[in-house]
Amino acid sequence: MLNENIVNQVKKLSRKPPLFNRECGNIWTEEYLATQMLNAHLDPNFDGASRRSLVIEKTVEFLNSEVLKCNSSILDLGCGPGLYAEKLCKKGHKITGVDFSKSTINYAKSSAKKQGLDIEYKYDDFFKLKYFNDYDVVMQVYGEVNTFSDEERDKLFEIVYNALKLNGLFIFDVSTPALRKKCGLKKNWHISEGGFWREKTHLVLEEGFQYDNDIWLDQYIVADNSGVQVYRNWFKDYSVETISEIIKNSGFRIIDIRGSLIGEALKEDSEWIAIIAQKVML
Ligand SMILES: C[S@@+](CC[C@H](N)C(=O)[O-])C[C@H]1O[C@@H](n2cnc3c(N)ncnc32)[C@H](O)[C@@H]1O
Repeated sequence: MLNENIVNQVKKLSRKPPLFNRECGNIWTEEYLATQMLNAHLDPNFDGASRRSLVIEKTVEFLNSEVLKCNSSILDLGCGPGLYAEKLCKKGHKITGVDFSKSTINYAKSSAKKQGLDIEYKYDDFFKLKYFNDYDVVMQVYGEVNTFSDEERDKLFEIVYNALKLNGLFIFDVSTPALRKKCGLKKNWHISEGGFWREKTHLVLEEGFQYDNDIWLDQYIVADNSGVQVYRNWFKDYSVETISEIIKNSGFRIIDIRGSLIGEALKEDSEWIAIIAQKVML
């Protein structure tokens, strides 16, 4: 017989939550899931936690040859296992990578050490950083900006503004509603004998919700012998107009907009917008 308590918990958690509700588990920092995410980062053929390795190589080529000055000091926010940091370091740039996933940052540190790369890695929450006029470039790659509420995004942009030297560059990408149109809203369930969410037998109830202003939630309720947990991946998509307005109001001048960070031209139906913005005097 199903435990009534579990049924009630699932019922409560399956309601559409208020916008950007963060009362949930964290896929980046919970030990078991962080290891799963690290494996996803390191899969060279999968656009999962990081983009596939060919795209990362092309991104570094584009940034290094067309955007960055020689020997730039670069702050990489949400650096993951250092896939960009290592390549940029090999091109002569000085990198600080910040990430709050312990297993991922430990992997990044040991990988850099093995290769003799002088990269500074910090295990930290990027919302707590207090740099001031320290960097030529701040980068945040693979749609992290999409995961923030407006308040979180504005706070992050303020942290980036403060961390940059005057005329320094903020490089980031955001997804557009075209990407969501392709992915759609899911409503599925499955039982696993052990896999992504849990090591042992568990049930996963997946549901997508749509909100106003191009905001989406992918919600996963995971139940196993130890209880029920909900995970919420929030996304806010942007258009060129919306992100341009916000970045200008945050103290930046846009110097280039592309359809991706590998330098593709922006099109009407681009799934991504890559922004290269410059800090100006407020
Ligand atoms: C989508 S992954 C992208 C990783 C990397 N930029 C890449 O493209 O290979 C997002 C990364 O940001 C990190 N992250 C998310 N929120 C963070 C926070 N508040 N502080 C520090 N790191 C964070 C996660 O741990 C994860 O490694």
